[in-house]
Amino acid sequence: MRLDRFLTRRGTHPCKEVSRLLQDGRVRVDGAVETDGRRRISRFSRIELEGEILQAQEAVYLMLYKPAGYLSATTDPLHPTVMELIDHPLRDELHLAGRLDRASTGLLLLTNDGCWSKRVTEPLEEISKVYRVTTRDEISPETAAIFAAGIYFAYEDLTTRPAVLEILGGRDALLTIHEGRYHQVKRMFHAVGNQVLSLHRESIGPLVLDEALPPGKFRPLGAAEVACFSR
Ligand code: URA
Repeated sequence: MRLDRFLTRRGTHPCKEVSRLLQDGRVRVDGAVETDGRRRISRFSRIELEGEILQAQEAVYLMLYKPAGYLSATTDPLHPTVMELIDHPLRDELHLAGRLDRASTGLLLLTNDGCWSKRVTEPLEEISKVYRVTTRDEISPETAAIFAAGIYFAYEDLTTRPAVLEILGGRDALLTIHEGRYHQVKRMFHAVGNQVLSLHRESIGPLVLDEALPPGKFRPLGAAEVACFSR
């Protein structure tokens, strides 16, 4: 929202007074004086009025190397969830930007920024996700063309978007998909009579799982990584 709207909505200063406060340089946004009331702010902008902090919520963006055996959920009565791996002061405010099945491993993103996670997960954004897959049976060469054409999912009555399959040899492949349907990778291989035995997500869009991160560990995203999904 606009900065002037944020200030007037508090109800302590009428519109005219807010304009004067801004002109007089009494308002700071993220530490710097801001005189333009049209400035767009978010719920993570730090806003100060005459030295008083009106809003100061930290935005958190984390990359987790999800190990097998953890549910992609915030709570669960039966199984451990990935939240148990997150030792962070704002842990209770975080949500998942996408999911992995319990047995799957790899890159999982967590944040308290709902706009950001929406951009990561929104199917229309067509963010690519790369999975390393090991299957029960040898992957036939025709599978790549079948996945590129799309697989019909009767339950949702839709055909998956063209996916890119790179067969690494035998039962191993890299699969790039551009959406995140329920159990999508497993169902795609099931549709060609094969079965996924292990599934590891290597990347989401330009964000690649940090090789230095051991399974079960997380780290904050850097500014450039956050910006991959910012507008
Ligand atoms: N597709 C699946 O089937 N499982 C996952 O965990 C991710 C994508």
